[in-house]
Amino acid sequence: MQTCIDIADVRRVRDAWRAQGERVACVPTMGNLHAGHLDLVRHARAAAERVVVSIFVNPLQFGPQEDFQRYPRTEQADAEALRAAGVDVLFLPSVQVMYPRPLEATTRVEVPGISNDLCGAFRPALFRGVATVVARLFNIVQPTVAIFGEKDFQQLFIIRRMVEDLAFAVDIVGIPTVREPHGLALSSRNGYLDAAQRQQAGILYQTLTRLAQRLAGGARDYADMQARATEDLKSSGFRPDYVAIRRVSDLGQPRQNEVEELVILIAAWLDQTRLIDNLRVVPGAASK
Ligand code: PAJ
Repeated sequence: MQTCIDIADVRRVRDAWRAQGERVACVPTMGNLHAGHLDLVRHARAAAERVVVSIFVNPLQFGPQEDFQRYPRTEQADAEALRAAGVDVLFLPSVQVMYPRPLEATTRVEVPGISNDLCGAFRPALFRGVATVVARLFNIVQPTVAIFGEKDFQQLFIIRRMVEDLAFAVDIVGIPTVREPHGLALSSRNGYLDAAQRQQAGILYQTLTRLAQRLAGGARDYADMQARATEDLKSSGFRPDYVAIRRVSDLGQPRQNEVEELVILIAAWLDQTRLIDNLRVVPGAASK
């Protein structure tokens, strides 16, 4: 595995691969890699001859009061895991390489509407930062395919929309969420939790599965279900930002007799840690 820290290095390797007709899969990350990230790498290896993983804690997607400074940085261990996983290039740019201009003067990519909904309503900088950094990464790496986790369902949706709107020549592939045995979705932010909180955090997935079962059973009282689940999470010690039942296709609010696939999304704080998770469900599937 080769580690590249500037754009010219990546481009040189990329051009050599292209000359041989090799496809390139890209896996963008912020590092502190866990089994979920490595599952994306596994899919990347199956999707193309060459795999580039980027690690960049992107300042543009963090708000001023958020955890940019304390976000876990474990580059050495990450590099070892990626080498063992058969990655060809680790792209490890500095802030200077990704944003040569001051952040406030940098060109941004904005996917309107959906970027201000759900997580975007609580983290206004998030999706503009994500779209901007992923667009720049795509232009640097020029991948054939890019792999993202469904764990960040809204992020995946926004990236697909950006790729469509800006005609990026890249296929976007979404991969199911990797979880701990008790259901907690793996996340770099789980490292902020102590052992008891980590156990408690499994309640998020239990809440999702309970709602999914009710929807599969034909329940349609979406507003009521959302409100009740929010109260239940509060009683269990969480501070929920939202519990939302949406359509998978456009993340819009479902109609009363919705037949399209739905996704239940939750964002909730446990002490100082913000956790997100989601689960897809076909409405009425269990009653058919
Ligand atoms: P990060 O949180 O490091 O996640 C990198 C990729 O791993 C994302 O596509 C995310 O959805 C996926 N992922 C995270 N946890 C997962 C899990 N438990 N199972 C499967 N996949 C999982 O998401 C980001 O970084 C950044 O916003 C980024 C896209 C890199 C832009 O900065």
